[in-house]
Amino acid sequence: MATTIAELEKRREQARLGGGEKRIAAQHAKGRLTARERLSVLLDPESFEEVDMFVEHNCSDFGMEAQKYPGDGVVTGSGTINGRLVFVFAQDFTVFGGSLSERHAQKICKIMDAAMKVGAPVIGLNDPGGARIQEGVASLAGYAEVFQRNVLASGVVPQLSLIMGPCAGGAVYSPAMTDFIFMVKDSSYMFVTGPDVVKTVTNEVVTQEELGGAVTHTTRSGVADVAFENDIDALLAAREFFGFLPLSNRHDVPSRPSEDPWDRQEDSLDTLVPPSASTPYDMHELIRKVADEGDFFELQPGHAGNIIIGFCRIEGRTVGVVANQPTVLAGVLDINSSKKGARFVRFCDAFDIPILTFVDVPGFLPGVAQEHNGIIKHGAKLLFAYAEATVPKITVITRKAYGGAYDVMSSKHLRGDLNYAWPTAEIAVMGAKGAVEIIFRGKTPEEIAERTQEYEERFANPFVAASRGYIDEVIMPHSTRRRVALGLRKLRNKQLENPWKKHDNIPL
Ligand code: COA
Repeated sequence: MATTIAELEKRREQARLGGGEKRIAAQHAKGRLTARERLSVLLDPESFEEVDMFVEHNCSDFGMEAQKYPGDGVVTGSGTINGRLVFVFAQDFTVFGGSLSERHAQKICKIMDAAMKVGAPVIGLNDPGGARIQEGVASLAGYAEVFQRNVLASGVVPQLSLIMGPCAGGAVYSPAMTDFIFMVKDSSYMFVTGPDVVKTVTNEVVTQEELGGAVTHTTRSGVADVAFENDIDALLAAREFFGFLPLSNRHDVPSRPSEDPWDRQEDSLDTLVPPSASTPYDMHELIRKVADEGDFFELQPGHAGNIIIGFCRIEGRTVGVVANQPTVLAGVLDINSSKKGARFVRFCDAFDIPILTFVDVPGFLPGVAQEHNGIIKHGAKLLFAYAEATVPKITVITRKAYGGAYDVMSSKHLRGDLNYAWPTAEIAVMGAKGAVEIIFRGKTPEEIAERTQEYEERFANPFVAASRGYIDEVIMPHSTRRRVALGLRKLRNKQLENPWKKHDNIPL
């Protein structure tokens, strides 16, 4: 018996070494942790329960039968984050560069299946050299099995990808289908084809970092949500972020005790909106003053900054926040901000997370580039997402709500449950001057000025909308947190269903 236990210990030790000391040292030299070290930062101490530690690849080409490593380049299992269950996989770059073999893929699929069965999120720590080249199509088949599960799990359990190394070709599409992507600066990248292929095909010269580094994807492309300085920062942020997520679409949003009074009054909000309609102010201030303890986890802060998205808590329960940001492009809706907002709204709706929308929007961004690149279709995504969402929806208009953008931003007409406006709200088809120049074309500047004032008096306020019931109540800015908290309490048992359908056909 003693020998048998010793044998197990020995085999475990060997498996934990992955590709061996030398390759571990090389991984450390690049400033990266190993797969197991990463899991130890991500998960609660002693909570990780590994499965398939002794799985090996089944390839016998190119001398592979002589090179077998227990675990085959991916560490899989489950654990807890602050006591809540999560399924995890971490690719081990020290074994065949973390490349994906048939068996490696089977291990990932096994934990994804388990996560879906029991209802718990999946976090993938990606550090892959792509498809295991020696295995050929078996490896591609493995990728497709993972992709299929990403799709089936979408909307069932939250899926979070951390990109912590090279991610090229097929390796990018599994993360792309997960809900959120975190990247590590200067050590991770994602592209469909790398710089060498790009140079051959298009003659463009570009570095890996420029093509698909963390900064590129969290600013220009919007493929990833947040970039972090190193592995540890990314993993600790993932722990914090996990705390906002429900375990599955069958679970309620997480709830934790909050010391922050639900009716906390914020007098400074009464002067947040500047007297001049064209002076910007930072919408983050409102979000933080409404959130429990000022805590807001922002997603995609570096991309399409004209819309803000992220999670906060009110009375200890998760709320998804969408807000126009007057300091960036005056908070206008454009292609990128519409796409950014739409996917977030759909995530919240899929997982029963109430949506709080703060509105200060001058409309959609005019321009040839916007029109030619399909603002109609992309803007429609946000409209579609809000309109189909059945979760509690609370909207607060702080200043401008102009034109079609008024409709889009969780208006009463899109089944907004509670639509509030501050006294500073201006709800109109467009800004007063533009409106008057159209309806009184050809008039003298004096007449235009006079009519502009008349238009402002008529529409630059929330009361016309309130008189029609489109705004449920004009509220004091200082009482916004109290109103939102009360609203969320009231809406906790909201029930609303869309008509039966196989699925909708959102403009893509
Ligand atoms: N299949 C099998 N083994 C792979 C692999 C793959 N796709 N990618 C890397 N490896 C192995 C290497 O052979 C090397 O093995 P060794 O430790 O026994 O020498 C080890 O992983 C580390 O790779 P290396 O190239 O030395 O690391 P690097 O940090 O210099 O480069 C990559 C990393 C991922 C950029 C590079 O390995 C690469 O380009 N891999 C191929 C990517 C690809 O095209 N995949 C297929 C398309 S999906």
